[in-house]
Amino acid sequence: MPLRTHEISGGGSGIGRAVCQRFASEGALVVVADLNEEAANETLRSLSRDHKVQEHMAAVVDVSSKQSVERLVESIQRRYFQPASVCVNAAGITQDDFLLRLEEAAFDRVVGVNLKGTFLVVQAVAAAMVASGVSKGSIVTVGSIVGKVGNIGQVNYSASKAGVEGITRTAAKELSRYRIRCNCVLPGFISTPMTDKVPERVIHKMTSLVPLGRMGEPDEVADVCSFLASDDSRYITGASIEVTGGLFMG
Ligand SMILES: *[C@@H]1O[C@H](CO)[C@@H](O)[C@H](O)[C@H]1NC(C)=O
Ligand SMILES: *[C@@H]1O[C@H](CO)[C@@H](O)[C@H](O)[C@H]1NC(C)=O
Repeated sequence: MPLRTHEISGGGSGIGRAVCQRFASEGALVVVADLNEEAANETLRSLSRDHKVQEHMAAVVDVSSKQSVERLVESIQRRYFQPASVCVNAAGITQDDFLLRLEEAAFDRVVGVNLKGTFLVVQAVAAAMVASGVSKGSIVTVGSIVGKVGNIGQVNYSASKAGVEGITRTAAKELSRYRIRCNCVLPGFISTPMTDKVPERVIHKMTSLVPLGRMGEPDEVADVCSFLASDDSRYITGASIEVTGGLFMG
C-alpha cells in the first residue's frame, strides 16, 4: 500500500511544525510547506526518516497567493504521484491593534493569510483529492478560540479565525459526497513563536484564566490534528474542537 502523503502549510514553526513531527512519527510522508524556506528546511531536518524509497519534502508556499498554493499542489503530485490525502493548514499571522486604530492594510494582510489562505489551500487540496479519487481525505484547518470569543486588540485576527470555521463547515458539507472530511481545531493559549511576542505580565494573566492552569504546547494541538486526520475520527466532519485547557469554555 502506498504511503499516505500529508501536507502541512505553516509547517516551519509552532503548531505546524509539531503537526509535521507527529505525522512523520506515525509513518506518513510529510510535505512541510512554509513561507519561510529556512524554517521549512529546519522542520524537515527534524523529522524522523525511516522510509526506504520516498522522503519527506520541504516547499515554499505563500498561502495568500492562489498561484503559489497551486504550485505547491502540483509539486506534491510530481514528487509522490498522488495528492496529499491529509492537509493541515496551520499558516497564520497576527498583527494586533485596537479596533479604533487598526489600519486597513493590516486588516487586509491578516485576512489575506488566515482567511483567504485557508480558502485557497482547502480549495486546491480538495480539488486534487477529488480529481484523483483519494479515499478518506481529511482536511484540518486551524482556527482560534479568539474567533469565538474575541480578544482586545485582535479585530483582524478574530475576524479571520471566525471565518476559518465558516469555510470549514461549508467545505465539510460540500465535500462529504467525495468522502472528504473537514474539521477545525481551535487552539487557545499555546506556547509558540506567535505568543513569544506577548509580554510576560499578559502571559501570567492569561494563564491564570486557564482552568488547567498553564499554557498549552504545540504537541497538544498536534495530537488533536492527528486524531482528525486519522480513521479514529471517521464520523466527525464540520466540527470545531477547542484545545484550550478549558479557557472560555461554555
Ligand atoms: C532549503 O533546502 C533546499 C534543498 O536542500 C536548498 O536548496 C535551499 O537553499 C534551502 N533554503 C534555505 C533558505 O536554507
Ligand atoms: C492587525 O491590525 C493591526 C493594527 O493595525 C496591525 O498592526 C496588524 O499588523 C494587523 N495584523 C496583520 C496580520 O496584518
